Amino acid sequence: MKLLVTGGAGFIGSSFIRHLLESHQDIELVNFDCLTYAGNLENLSDLCTDSRYSFVKGDISSLIEVEEALNQEVDAVINFAAETHVDRSILNPSAFVRTNIQGTQVLLEASRRRKVSRFIQISTDEVYGSLKESGRFTEQSPLSPNSPYAASKAGGDLLLRSYHKTYGMDVIITRSCNNYGPYQFPEKLIPLMILNALEDKPLPVYGDGLHVRDWIHVTDHCRALAKVLLEGRPGQIYNIGSNQEEPNLEVVHQILDDLGKSHELVQFVEDRPGHDRRYAIDATLIRTELDWSPQVSFKQGLAETIHWYQENFDWVNNVLSGTYRSYYQQMYENRDETLKGL
Ligand code: NAD
Ligand code: DAU
Repeated sequence: MKLLVTGGAGFIGSSFIRHLLESHQDIELVNFDCLTYAGNLENLSDLCTDSRYSFVKGDISSLIEVEEALNQEVDAVINFAAETHVDRSILNPSAFVRTNIQGTQVLLEASRRRKVSRFIQISTDEVYGSLKESGRFTEQSPLSPNSPYAASKAGGDLLLRSYHKTYGMDVIITRSCNNYGPYQFPEKLIPLMILNALEDKPLPVYGDGLHVRDWIHVTDHCRALAKVLLEGRPGQIYNIGSNQEEPNLEVVHQILDDLGKSHELVQFVEDRPGHDRRYAIDATLIRTELDWSPQVSFKQGLAETIHWYQENFDWVNNVLSGTYRSYYQQMYENRDETLKGL
């Protein structure tokens, strides 16, 4: 089986490529990625000698580049490529529309023309919006996105639905909760807080810190995606979650405790506009239909992740260099001024 994995140089895509090559001898993978600030081939440096793996630099919103990549006649496309950070989507929504909506449509259209047998879209629980204290999102929950990021992902999902209904394409959408683990770009909560704590810098917690996220280790997510790819039903949506809900402040305290740092490093800052209060996933469908369940507990996975960042300062320095540095300064050193100006 030959796969085109888009966005494979990012956090989850690179973990998925590693997982499939390790677990399936008969798989060939083409990683198609335009290498934004979040895409880093260093994430896959251990695989570059594997003859089953190859890399093509390209943008999913360019029909020419996508069609050229599809000349390789792949059996399935798995789309991880996206702009993924909510705070960036608040500052610059247009990049999100371009990649997450327009890029998804280009990829779908090229795949339809080439009669690709299966198209998997890696989506997110954020398309469902925000929950109150109780309840969980099921695959039937209405789409109610609140950030430009979530709205752009919902737009991509609706295009998949239309390609299934209109053209009969074999498409599947997966919607996962928050991922954590090695190689996550240090703009997201967990790696950002680990790195700030290691440097004794303030840990910026938005609002009251009681927003809840459901955390899944990236390897558990990737095992679920492999099941969906090989055994999922055409036209289906699969929620992927691990029932490990934590308020942000609790996560930050766990990181500080693990590193032996003081809770006084926590700094409450202005809340994210449109900040979703709580996400929680009902993953009954994938658990029962595809016999998947998460293996990594949040406590163990978080401790291992902290250790990985401690041991991989070179990787951190490389991804934090160059253009990201100026963005990082703008977001976190002048964050309150930036948001007031919106
Ligand atoms: P990431 O930001 O780490 O990586 C995104 C990758 O996509 C990068 O390698 C980047 O270079 C590439 N990319 C961006 N625009 C592109 C374009 N136009 N053409 C080709 N490549 C492009 O993202 P991630 O956290 O690994 O997320 C992967 C997917 O999973 C995304 O679709 C995201 O919406 C979804 N998702 C993420 C999470 C999470 O917690 N991180 C949870 C649920 C779903
Ligand atoms: O739920 C899945 C989604 O999870 C994915 O679709 C997104 O791509 C991914 O970025 C993530 O979105 P979140 O907005 O939940 O993740 P983030 O790491 O940005 O924030 C997690 C929580 O922590 C959220 O409530 C905001 C809060 N936060 C975040 C940062 C970066 C802070 O309090 N301080 C911070 O500095």
